[in-house]
Amino acid sequence: MKILMVCLGNICRSPMAAGIANDLSKKHALGWMVDSAGTSGEHDGEGAHRLAVKVCKQNTIDISHHISKRFRKVDIAKYDRIYVMDKSNLRDVKVIAGDTFDDEKIDFLLNDATVFPDVNVPDPWYGGEQDFTDVFNLLTKACEHLRVQLNPHS
Ligand code: 4NP
Repeated sequence: MKILMVCLGNICRSPMAAGIANDLSKKHALGWMVDSAGTSGEHDGEGAHRLAVKVCKQNTIDISHHISKRFRKVDIAKYDRIYVMDKSNLRDVKVIAGDTFDDEKIDFLLNDATVFPDVNVPDPWYGGEQDFTDVFNLLTKACEHLRVQLNPHS
């Protein structure tokens, strides 16, 4: 299954989410191929935020080779599932996708209101290391939840 994690800059939340999900896939043989993209394109070609790299590394996940890229219209067809981090990401994805927007494959990463009552993954961009750690922990919980949803027998 090809999965795309989407945030705004593709340097904080979605690279961490992709790193965590790929790690989970490897550990549980889920067969996921997880990539990430950002709707702004403002950081195209940059690596992940240094605190995102640091916090992932503390948890044995290596995202040091990540290169930021923009979410594109063709990504809708390319991926089986597309997960956005917050409401503004969803709005931006809808604009970029235009008539190719597919409600069936696009969802919030925190997509279960009973488990995650606040739908948005908070943006740690203006925060410090603790904010990145908090987001890492939330993303880990969300990816584990995704495993149960997408691969119930794993
Ligand atoms: P991300 O965080 O969407 O989680 O990668 C951000 C990165 C950069 C900016 C905003 C959010 N920015 O405004 O440049």
